[in-house]
Amino acid sequence: MKPEEPLKVMISGAPASGKGTQCELIKKKYQLVHIAAGDLLRVEIAAGTEKGKRAKEYMEKGMLVPDEIVVMMVKERLLQPDAQENGWLLDGYPRSFSQAKALEGLGIRPDIFVLLDVSEENLVERVVGRRLDPVTGKIYHLKYSPPENEEVAARLTQRFDDTEEKVIMRLQTHHQNMEAVLSIYKDITVRINGDIPKEDVFAEIDKALSSIIENKSKTALSMGAGVSQICQCSSKDGFM
Ligand code: AP5
Repeated sequence: MKPEEPLKVMISGAPASGKGTQCELIKKKYQLVHIAAGDLLRVEIAAGTEKGKRAKEYMEKGMLVPDEIVVMMVKERLLQPDAQENGWLLDGYPRSFSQAKALEGLGIRPDIFVLLDVSEENLVERVVGRRLDPVTGKIYHLKYSPPENEEVAARLTQRFDDTEEKVIMRLQTHHQNMEAVLSIYKDITVRINGDIPKEDVFAEIDKALSSIIENKSKTALSMGAGVSQICQCSSKDGFM
């Protein structure tokens, strides 16, 4: 049964902790609208816009892109009808206290804040081995998720910020900001071990999301029952 209120999920974690990989799996099962701050920025870069040019300067240094670029971009995407109707899966946002506060100010709060925990050793290995398929958008890893065939292998690309040197800077930025973001979502944070195979990570996330959906359905049902009781009382009292 589809809950009354669509599911709203935030997924967070260090660079290359597996957010994008898990989003592919979550999207497939729950049909949420996937909104990735990094992808929105890369679209601007590829289009050669002013925003994209400015964003790239920060991304190359592993720093956060300024709020005046990112906040509006994400907000506009979140408020589109598809995300409002089907629910959303926000990936890599918010990454700072000010970004989280901006969402709170708009009354946008998720049902769950999923935090992937991965050791630094694995993060570096995942960054260096990551490859992307420009045709399907699928994420691969040369060792852990190799391409299915030669044709796909030949067209894989690497992100400009996926070097060992840049990931160290991205990790520093992540550590500097994470505690402040967590302070806002403490009560709805679910920490998941991301060091295990991707299917096992997904099984944990799936459990957490299923339980939220179940609770939402129960709430919707009990509210429905409440409304029908009020209607019955009103009609007995001659109001209807
Ligand atoms: P963004 O694009 O969001 O990059 P990121 O946070 O660094 O995360 P990644 O996309 O690198 O990794 P991921 O966690 O999605 O991992 P993936 O699934 O690909 O941001 C890039 C930059 O944009 C930032 O540095 C910043 O400058 C800017 N930016 C973005 N958002 C911003 C914001 N809100 N504010 C300001 N600036 C912002 O997996 C990685 C690899 O590991 C893959 O090869 C995958 O196959 C493999 N893998 C995944 N899971 C497993 C597993 N369980 N076991 C083995 N291998 C695995």
